Amino acid sequence: MTGGHDGADAGACDDCCSDCPDGGDPHHPSIFTDDRAVARRDYAKVLATVGGLTAVASLAAPLSGLTRVFERSYTGPVYSDGIYLVDGEGERVTESALAEGERTTVFPEPRPGIERAPTLLVRHPEDAYGGDTKLEFTVAGYAAYSKVCTHAGCMVSNEEGETLVCPCHFGKFDPTAGAKVVGGPPPRALPQLPITLSNDGYLVATGDFEGPVGAGGE
Ligand code: FES
Repeated sequence: MTGGHDGADAGACDDCCSDCPDGGDPHHPSIFTDDRAVARRDYAKVLATVGGLTAVASLAAPLSGLTRVFERSYTGPVYSDGIYLVDGEGERVTESALAEGERTTVFPEPRPGIERAPTLLVRHPEDAYGGDTKLEFTVAGYAAYSKVCTHAGCMVSNEEGETLVCPCHFGKFDPTAGAKVVGGPPPRALPQLPITLSNDGYLVATGDFEGPVGAGGE
């Protein structure tokens, strides 16, 4: 797992950007440069709306700013207290999974009805967090946010330095400030997930996202 990216990895983003309603920008590399297969599988599984969490809403429709690429149809909690975070292979995430400055995509450990909910896991020095970050939702420098953009539901899969970037319309979020919007059209921050460490050393949720996932939900 790593958070860096380089230009040679632009191809890893082609898959997702070609699915964006307006074509996106295929030249913005994914933040998941060390694991293209996982990134592709992640996106494909989200498109398939596994677990009833999301539904694809007319990818071919012109994007007016209101067209939602992903729309959550499931209204119950995605995470709850004690639900383990797992990586793209389904493995539970240990405290040592990321170094400071790295990030990756995780999911709630599958259980009936809820199998996939793409979640951005970032790690920064604890004193780097401020602004709108709910510090009580962080642990050991880790913070977790929904990966579904609050504008039209694309995956927030790119980065510019520390800033998380949505490739569809360049919505930008600051992961050290509660994933607040710092650029582009998204109307609100990515909802934060409260997390902690389990007694056996894995990252677990202590509740659900603190706000609506994806577009809508004002
Ligand atoms: S879907 Fe428009 S900026 Fe993310």
